[in-house]
Amino acid sequence: KILILDFGSQYTQLIARRVRELGVYCELHPWDMADADIRAFAPRGVILSGGPASVTEPGSPRVPQAVWDLKVPVLGICYGMQAMAVQLGGNVTPGAVKEFGYAEVRAHGHSRLLKDIEDRVNDEGHGLLDVWMSHGDHVSVLPPGFKRIASTKDVAIAGMADETRAYYALQFHPEVTHTPQGRRIYARFVHEICGCGKAWTPVNIIEDAILRVREQVGSRKVLLGLSGGVDSAVVAALLHKAIGEQLTCVFVDHGLLRYREGDQVMKIFADHLGVRVIRVDAEARFLHALKGVTDPEAKRKIIGALFVEVFEEQAQTLEGIEFLAQGTIYPDVIESAGAKTGKAQVIKSHHNVGGLPERMKLKLIEPLRELFKDEVRAIGLELGLPREMVYRHPFPGPGLGVRILGEVTKAAADTLRHADHIFIEELRKSGWYDKTAQAFAVYMPVKSVGVTGDGRRYEPIIGLRAVQTIDFMTAQWAQLPYELLDTCSRRIVNEVPGVSRVVYDITGKPPATIEWE
Ligand code: XMP
Repeated sequence: KILILDFGSQYTQLIARRVRELGVYCELHPWDMADADIRAFAPRGVILSGGPASVTEPGSPRVPQAVWDLKVPVLGICYGMQAMAVQLGGNVTPGAVKEFGYAEVRAHGHSRLLKDIEDRVNDEGHGLLDVWMSHGDHVSVLPPGFKRIASTKDVAIAGMADETRAYYALQFHPEVTHTPQGRRIYARFVHEICGCGKAWTPVNIIEDAILRVREQVGSRKVLLGLSGGVDSAVVAALLHKAIGEQLTCVFVDHGLLRYREGDQVMKIFADHLGVRVIRVDAEARFLHALKGVTDPEAKRKIIGALFVEVFEEQAQTLEGIEFLAQGTIYPDVIESAGAKTGKAQVIKSHHNVGGLPERMKLKLIEPLRELFKDEVRAIGLELGLPREMVYRHPFPGPGLGVRILGEVTKAAADTLRHADHIFIEELRKSGWYDKTAQAFAVYMPVKSVGVTGDGRRYEPIIGLRAVQTIDFMTAQWAQLPYELLDTCSRRIVNEVPGVSRVVYDITGKPPATIEWE
């Protein structure tokens, strides 16, 4: 396994994903991880991430001594390279501004890290690499024992290595897709230099998780809130495989789900996989509680609180439950750890049943805690969940409640579901579903005038939204083909009663959020 020390770069998670994609288990920890913890983790190799600080500033982050004492290979990226340089006796010269961009790197001296990894070869036989580079501070003096392994037009030392200690460092970012050979560089480091095998595969992840769940749970009983989303679906499939009948799922249908979503969830889990699922039809209760409420935050609070109330009522009818399972995934864990140490700025608090474990005196079980989303999907497929479910766009906890502007009514929800279904169906047909991160329809209660064959219409408006994003913190509106938008618009106005007009949302995030409320 590999240890990644995080110096705060926006790409650190990407490093971890690259390493895991290569079939090697890794963990990401803050740069100031305690020496004892580093020794206990006992990695086969360490990767030092980039970061926003400058090693030339007093008090800037440094690599813990334990890393050098481990006597294992180390790869420093960007800030990690500079920290390595100053700590091992070299020097770094400050740069005026930090800039990211394309650069062409020339490899020097056939280092073990870069040997034969190149996009092109120049006239003199040197390998050339296209990379994504962060200009800024640069290493000006190599530490003793190091030689230069890469340079660019602007940066004389863009890579360095001490082959005897297996210490390597690169000023550019091999983890981003703009560095086409990046994957090979990481493969070279983790497989060949560190000697890690490819043991981290979906099948192994599942087997490992099953053993751990069985050990933790024994013969006791587990409760899981199933939502139809990817994470809880994978937890359900995994726990069912691990502990079978000891798992009970509660699926609260708040009536604000997508078209036929409730039936689909039951079909897949109860009928197909044989999981014990209790479906609670709470549509009427939610609609009643939301009657007359138009403020978005008030709607969210009502839905959230009622969800917990309904879930808890159900749970109390069950005997002898000791665990509550949750679909927490690794990015959530990293985010909340970062939030505690003040190293990350954002956290989402989207856990639907927050507070419940304490109140019900349940122990938590989180079998996906160490997995990235792509790994969760891979094991979902391996566990037999349909591809359509595993690659489904995310859906907010409050559901259509935040996509029906203003008051939520049954009629509006039905209209919206129908329009949304048509939009999604057309996206799938055209191949655009997988090219967008999230897409949905929105219901606007304002009316507009239309004309159809037999006369005047005066009906609400449907908005369509499709975005492209990696992390959902920022997003671009998707530039869907006009023909596709045209088909969706025609179908929605013709097939869905009570819609006068269809509009497409062309606002990015920021300034808009992805959801309309
Ligand atoms: P916004 O609208 O903030 O959405 O740009 C970012 C992502 O978060 C989802 N979202 C939610 N998910 N409960 C959730 O579980 C919520 O209350 C909620 N609000 C927004 C949204 O769908 C998008 O993927």
